[in-house]
Amino acid sequence: MKLSISGVGKNFGAVRALDRVDLDIAPGEFVTLIGPSGCGKSTLFNMLAGLLEPDAGGSILLDGKAGALLGRTAFMPQRDLLLPWRNVLDNALLPCEIEGLPRASSRARAEKMAVDFGLRGFEKHYPQQLSGGMRQRVALMRTFMFERDLMLLDEPFGALDALTRSMMQRWLLDIWERYRRTILFITHDIDEAIFLADRVVVMSTRPGRIKLDRPIELPRPRDAHLLTAPEFTAIKRELLDAVEEESLKSFSA
Ligand SMILES: Nc1ncnc2c1ncn2[C@@H]1O[C@H](COP(=O)(O)OP(=O)(O)OP(=O)(O)O)[C@@H](O)[C@H]1O
Ligand SMILES: [Mg+2]
Repeated sequence: MKLSISGVGKNFGAVRALDRVDLDIAPGEFVTLIGPSGCGKSTLFNMLAGLLEPDAGGSILLDGKAGALLGRTAFMPQRDLLLPWRNVLDNALLPCEIEGLPRASSRARAEKMAVDFGLRGFEKHYPQQLSGGMRQRVALMRTFMFERDLMLLDEPFGALDALTRSMMQRWLLDIWERYRRTILFITHDIDEAIFLADRVVVMSTRPGRIKLDRPIELPRPRDAHLLTAPEFTAIKRELLDAVEEESLKSFSA
C-alpha cells in the first residue's frame, strides 16, 4: 500500500473531529473524499501532511513506514495562497527552494512543466494578472513540482465556475495519467468525485468516520458524456443518498 491509515482519530479539546478512520490507498490510485462540512476532511489531510499529530492509538503508514510525515507528501491546502510578489515560475519554484534543490535544474523543470499546465507565455506574470483557473493551475503545478508520490489536494477546484471546473477535471486526469502519482482529493461536488476517481470515500458527519468506500469502475479515459451515462447516474444516486443521510444528521444534531 502507498498509504495505510488505521484507527486514526483527532480531538480538538472537547470537539471530536475524527473517529477511528481506516483507509488504504494503493500506489497510483485516484481516491476522492466527500462528506459534510466540518466532518474532519481537512483535519485528516493535515495529519497526512505531518502538520498535525493523530491522537494516540492511530497509525499512518506511508510506503509501509511510520514516523514523521512532514515533507513526505505534496500537499495543496484548502485555501491555497500564491505569493502575490512572486511571478508564476517563482511561485512554482517555492517548494524546490525550501528543499534547497539546485536552482537551474529546478527552473528548467518548471519551465517544461508550465507547458503541461497550460501556463506557457505566462511564466513571468504575477498572480493578480491571471484568471482564477490559471491561479489554480499554478498552485497545482507548485504541488506537482514538489515531487512526492502521494498528493493531497484539498478542494483544489472549489473556487471555479462550472465550465472551468470541468475543463480542469479533464486536464487533471490527463496530467495524472502522465505523471502517475497517487492522489487523494477532497471535494464537495459529487459529479467531480465520481468523474475523477478510482474510488469515492464518503465520510460521516462529525466525528468523521468512513461511511462508504465505493469503487468506480467506469472506463478511462473519461469525457463529459460520462456525466449523463446511466452507470454514472446510478452511482451518483447511491452516493447522494449516503451524503444526504449524513447532512441531515448534522442539521438535526
Ligand atoms: N486547529 C483546530 N483547532 C480546533 N478545532 C479545529 C481545528 N481544525 C479543525 N477544527 C475543528 O475540527 C472539525 C473538522 O474541521 P475540518 O476543517 O477538518 O472539516 P472539513 O471536513 O475539512 O470541512 P469543510 O468541508 O468545511 O472544509 C471542525 O469542527 C473544526 O472546527
Ligand atoms: Mg476542509
